[in-house]
Amino acid sequence: MISVTEAVANRQSVRSFTKKQVSDETLKSLIIKSSRSPSGGNLQPWRIYVVNGDTMKSFLDFQNTWQGSDKPEYPIYPEKLKEPYRTSRFKIGEQLYNSIGIERSDSQARVDQMLKNFTFFGAPAGLFCYVDRQMNQPQWSDLGMFLQTFMLLAQEEGIDTCAQESWSLRQKMVSEFTEADEEHMLFCGMAIGYRDTTSPLNNYKTDRRSLDSWCTFISK
Ligand SMILES: Cc1cc2nc3c(=O)[nH]c(=O)nc-3n(C[C@H](O)[C@H](O)[C@H](O)COP(=O)(O)O)c2cc1C
Repeated sequence: MISVTEAVANRQSVRSFTKKQVSDETLKSLIIKSSRSPSGGNLQPWRIYVVNGDTMKSFLDFQNTWQGSDKPEYPIYPEKLKEPYRTSRFKIGEQLYNSIGIERSDSQARVDQMLKNFTFFGAPAGLFCYVDRQMNQPQWSDLGMFLQTFMLLAQEEGIDTCAQESWSLRQKMVSEFTEADEEHMLFCGMAIGYRDTTSPLNNYKTDRRSLDSWCTFISK
């Protein structure tokens, strides 16, 4: 069994998956274990929908034939993102597109790659993660803890993931499929499966800003 440190180090956002299936039992076990995540007041404000196996096929078919019009559930990034965040965001975009040889000028190829979010990057399983609309930032952060716990536990099983805020752009369509309560809002999706180790999309490591730029050991 891998250590937590190894799970943290091995986890990366995987954007190309093999066809190997993940069983409902495995997903259920990961979800139950993830529910040990802490949450303020123990509210456990997460609401999770699982699409797997034949249901993944039904969902993708449903999406392809959906006729409605959608709108973003929330702004994914602040408008006029400031530094150093803007540069970090720019850098991961460049890393991703460079890995598969897409030029900066090739906006169609960039869009096509971005649209792969909406096939869960070919993953056999996915989650849709909701939070009650009554909740505020603290509970959104609780949901984030759940997601990270899930992603680390998945590593223990050799299973890879990619959290996907992009699904919030198609929240109406998704919620028609999940039949989620109107009171719940879609925060994100998550692609789940086994990484295609041969894909260049999975063969680079994102960097992190240096400790000094965001952590201060106060000495007075
Ligand atoms: C809540 C959340 C939502 C994300 N949404 C997307 C997404 O919609 N599409 C995508 O390709 N990556 C998405 N990511 C992955 C980030 O881009 C990724 O975590 C970041 O670049 C760091 O890379 P790493 O996960 O490989 O360490 C998301 C990550 C988080 C935590």
